[in-house]
Amino acid sequence: MFDSGFGGLTVARATIDLLPGEDLVYLGDTGRYPYGSKPLDDVREHAIEIANHLVDKFDIKVLVVACNTATAAALKDLRADLSIDVLGVIKPGVRAVVERTDSKRIGVIGTVGTVSSGAYESALAALDDHIEIVTCACPGLVEFVERGETTGERIQILVERLLAPIVEADVDVLLLGCTHYPYLARAISDAVGPEVILVSSADETAFELARLLESKGLGTPDENTAGSARFISSGDIASFTRVGSRLLGPELVDAEHWRPKYAP
Ligand code: DGL
Repeated sequence: MFDSGFGGLTVARATIDLLPGEDLVYLGDTGRYPYGSKPLDDVREHAIEIANHLVDKFDIKVLVVACNTATAAALKDLRADLSIDVLGVIKPGVRAVVERTDSKRIGVIGTVGTVSSGAYESALAALDDHIEIVTCACPGLVEFVERGETTGERIQILVERLLAPIVEADVDVLLLGCTHYPYLARAISDAVGPEVILVSSADETAFELARLLESKGLGTPDENTAGSARFISSGDIASFTRVGSRLLGPELVDAEHWRPKYAP
C-alpha cells in the first residue's frame, strides 16, 4: 500500500482492523509529498517506481494505491504493467456514495490533481449517470494533516471557506476524495452540517480489498495469527514515525527509509 504521505494510513487503519491476519507493507512518499499539486505525469512516475519497489522487494500479492491523486494519475498504467491485482481508492468510494444518496446530488472533495483529472466524474458516470456530482478542490487541507494538526480554529476556518460551494450545492452525501481527509472529518462535518453523510474512501477500499482477497482465494489461511505491519518512508524517519504513530495507532512503532531514484 502506498500514499504520498500519511493520508493512506486511513486505509491502512481500516485494513488492519478488517483484515488483522494479513501482512501489510505501507510506503509513505513523504520525501516527495505533496502529490495533489504536482503534474499528474510526475505522480504517475512516482507511483510506478514505488509499485515496482514493493513488488520486487516484498513480493506483495495485492497493491493498494491508498491515494486518490495517485489513483487518478496511475491506476490504469499500474494495472497494465503489474501481474498482481491493483486496487485504487476512487471506485470503492463512488460505489458507496451511489448506494447512500437519496437526493441524487453528491459532493466530492479532493486535491487539485484529483479534482482536475475528472476521475470522479468518469467513475460515477460508469456506475450511474443520473446522479449529479459537485466536485471541489481543497488546497491546503493536506498540509494540516501532514503537520499533525487536525483540530482547532485555523483548520475550521479554512474548511468552512473551502467547502462553501459544497454547502451551497445542498448535497446529501459528501465523499472524502482524499485519503488525508478522514482525519479532518470533525471539522468537515461541522462545516457541512450533521445531515450530510460523510463517506470515507478508506473504509470502502478496505471492504473492497476484503472482497477481492476472498473472491481470488488470496486471503491468509491463518486468520487467528496477527499479521505484521511494516512502514517505509522516503522522507525523514523520525517525523514519519512521530506523526504516523499518532495518526495510525500503536502498530506504527518504527519505519525504514527508502531512497527513490526519481526525486525532485
Ligand atoms: N493523500 C492524497 C490523496 O488522496 C493527497 C495528498 C497529497 O497531496 O500528496 O489524494
